[in-house]
Amino acid sequence: MVSQSPTQAIALSLTLRTLAEIRGVNIGVSVGAEELQTIPTYAGLVAREFNILTTENAMKFETLRPTMDQYDFTDADSIVNYAQTHDMQVRGHTLVWTNQLPTWLIKRNWTRDQLLDILHEHIITVVSRYRGRIVVWDVVNEALNKSGELAEDNYWMKGIGPDYVELAFQWAHQADPDARLFYNDFSNEGLGPKSNGVFKMVLDLVNRGVPIHGVGFQMHNDLSWSLSPEDVAANLKRLADLGLEVHVTEMDVRIEQPSTKDELDAQAKIYGEVLGICLLASNCTTYVIWGLSDNYSWIPYFFPGWGSALIFDHTYQPKPAYYALIEKLLER
Ligand code: XIL
Repeated sequence: MVSQSPTQAIALSLTLRTLAEIRGVNIGVSVGAEELQTIPTYAGLVAREFNILTTENAMKFETLRPTMDQYDFTDADSIVNYAQTHDMQVRGHTLVWTNQLPTWLIKRNWTRDQLLDILHEHIITVVSRYRGRIVVWDVVNEALNKSGELAEDNYWMKGIGPDYVELAFQWAHQADPDARLFYNDFSNEGLGPKSNGVFKMVLDLVNRGVPIHGVGFQMHNDLSWSLSPEDVAANLKRLADLGLEVHVTEMDVRIEQPSTKDELDAQAKIYGEVLGICLLASNCTTYVIWGLSDNYSWIPYFFPGWGSALIFDHTYQPKPAYYALIEKLLER
């Protein structure tokens, strides 16, 4: 082996994780249990570069509840165990969402009381199991429509009514009083009807003493993302004034295929800018990317013809976006 100078050794040990820890923020990635277990390169890169993991699908209702009477915690446990072994935190995603619900649930007509029982039992069981091991939960996901009102076509809204939101936060808090509880949504980072709706909802929850600690900005972007940093900062600030934290929860920047070098550079700029805005805001504490590498991204399935959305490519090589994040973390 060629011997390294001290400077080379320091340069080689620079990772997103080490730099983020120096800056006092968390840098995360959403992961799948199978990839962590079966692909050493994937698992190694995750532990090297990140200090917080989000369960991409392992804690969704349909994954945890294959039948009404049975829970399957296999994947969820395996991710939490991997995180603990590598000294990483976990964001639990997500307790209440209208998507990825099991057929046994949605195919039957339940009374409001029955649905309240089902949701209560689900939240208490899941949050209690990981008490002390999951530091933050996306308690309610995507409850608002684009006008910023509670979406009427939401499964839980239809079956329970608007108070499903506060009940979910209360139950999660009962099950783990130390967990940080988040409302998570998309297109809510700037100023506009959606983020105003989020603000109004969380203001009301805070004012009524409902245990909520933060708001997640999903940030599934494409190259046209061009919000003014001032607007995002103003939105972060009004949430900070309520005592709420913000996490970037599902960052990716999709590109129409095939991608060009210029597009990868433009993508890098967006990754870096969003991290920069987060680093400047006192209440933005965590930046999570929705997938490790372009071969494990949801984008090609949900946006046919699009891809290349992540910071590592199909062969786990860092892309310009990776270096943009490193540079941003090194900036003073
Ligand atoms: C996506 C996953 O990445 C896919 O694997 C799955 O098939 C569908 O859900 N907003 C969310 C995430 O809150 O849970 C979604 O994740 C992406 C959009």
